[in-house]
Order: sequence, then structure tokens, then C-alpha cells
Amino acid sequence: MIGPPDRSHRPTLHGMGQELWTAVDRYIADHLLPADPVLDAALRVSRGAGLTRGAVAHNQGKLLEILARVQGARSILELGTLGGYSTIWLARALPEGGRLISLEADPRHAALAHANIANAGLAGVVQVRVGPALETLPELVEEGTGPFDLIFIDADKQNNPSYLEWSLRLSRPGTLLIADNVVRAGLILDPDGSDPRLGEGGVQALRRFYELLATEPRVSATAIQTVGSKGHDGFVVALVSDPNTSA
Ligand code: SAH
Ligand code: DHB
Ligand code: MG
Repeated sequence: MIGPPDRSHRPTLHGMGQELWTAVDRYIADHLLPADPVLDAALRVSRGAGLTRGAVAHNQGKLLEILARVQGARSILELGTLGGYSTIWLARALPEGGRLISLEADPRHAALAHANIANAGLAGVVQVRVGPALETLPELVEEGTGPFDLIFIDADKQNNPSYLEWSLRLSRPGTLLIADNVVRAGLILDPDGSDPRLGEGGVQALRRFYELLATEPRVSATAIQTVGSKGHDGFVVALVSDPNTSA
């Protein structure tokens, strides 16, 4: 029968933002992201342990993988492991001999991530370092572990200003920096804003993070706001450049 397509299953555009965004994320995943038992298991295990929030969305994980491949990343640093979901996406982009170090403060999260990463066959590639990142980052600098080709900042967002400084010490010109959760449903617009999920002073710290990105001569940065299954948020993409050249 010929007629207009049945769109009755589609959420209306009016007043249904989150429902619509989630439905579109599902559409994207259904079309572009084949079923992935390893990643599904990692999410299931994390949710089973009560970690229901925090991991990047499926389509965002795929973006991380693509960015790491475009970058040709052989060494990746991640701040904030949780259950290792974004870790697995990023580690899959690595070539033979590549490595990823992920920093996680909570030993329970790290243990969970460890199991998920092993189940993904990536135990030989990924190292999860347990401890507050402000303690493990100086260790990496002392050990001369850097520079990394890609750094994904996704831990406690109050510390993003410091994480940017440490990331620069672990970078080279050409390093790609990505930072998650930099919009928070627009809360960044409010100098007096607060967000329980960002912690005390989290909104102000995020605003300082933007200022640092703007004034730091060694980075060339943008931010993209997103809607989807995780609501309205966004991420920073920044390229570390040689301050003596324009890039
Ligand atoms: N990158 C993950 C999500 C990370 S959620 C993913 O997309 O799959 C943020 C994580 O940062 C949590 O596991 C939290 O325990 C961790 N975290 C919080 N404060 C931290 C700190 N000071 N140092 C390192 N990790 C921290
Ligand atoms: C939440 C989302 C994140 O992407 C993250 O890194 C941490 C927490 C959240 O929605 O609570
Ligand atoms: Mg995040």
C-alpha cells in the first residue's frame, strides 16, 4: 500500500527532548554500530555493580575510536576509567605495540575495569593505575612515560584546570586532547552555577578550564555541545601545538 510513512512511533518534537534524543541515539546505534558482545558485557557488568552513569554513549565511544585512529595514536592516556568502557573503545584503535594508561581513583572501579578490559582481550595493552590522578600524573612525568599521542580527560571535572596543565607536560606538539562533560546542560553559562555531579565548585572549575584553553598558547581548542542518551552535554577537542608556529 502506498501512503505516507508511519511515523506514529516517533516522539514528537514538542517537549520531549530527552525522549527524542535517546530515540535518535538508538537509531544511530541500530544503523551504524553492530552488536558488540564485549562492550555490551562491560556495560552490563558495570551496571550490575551500580555504575549506571558516566560511561560515554555507544556512538561517542565509536567517535573516540575514530579520533584515535585518525590521530594514528600509539600511546593514549585516559583520566577516569570507571568500568573501562571508553578505555576499550580507545584501546581498540591502537596498533600492534600500542599502549594505554588509564588513571582511576576508586579501587572498585579499577577492579571492574580490569575484568572488563581482560574480557576484551586488552589486558596486555591497557594499564589501569589506581589513585587520585593528581598523584599518578606526577609519577608519569617522573617516570618519563610521555609524551602521549592522545589524552582523554574524563575524571573529576573540578580538577580539569590542573589536568590540563599535567596533560601538557605529558604532550608533544600534535597531541590530541579530548575532555568530556564540558557543557552540563548549559550550566557552564552560569558563573554561580552548581551541579551535584560536578562536585563543589565544579561549574566554576569548568569555566576556568575554558579560560585556560583560550589563553594557553600551546593549544588550539574547540568545544562541541551534544544531545543524546546522556542528555545535553559536550566535549572539548584540542590540538597541542608548537607555540612558535601557528597551528
Ligand atoms: N571514561 C569513563 C567514564 C569515567 S567516569 C567512560 O566513559 O567509560 C569518571 C571516573 O573518574 C569515575 O570512575 C571516578 O571514580 C573517577 N575519578 C573521580 N575522581 C578521580 C580522581 N581524582 N582521579 C582519578 N579518577 C577519578
Ligand atoms: C556523568 C557523566 C559522565 O560522562 C561522566 O564522565 C561522569 C558522570 C553523569 O552523568 O553523572
Ligand atoms: Mg564523561
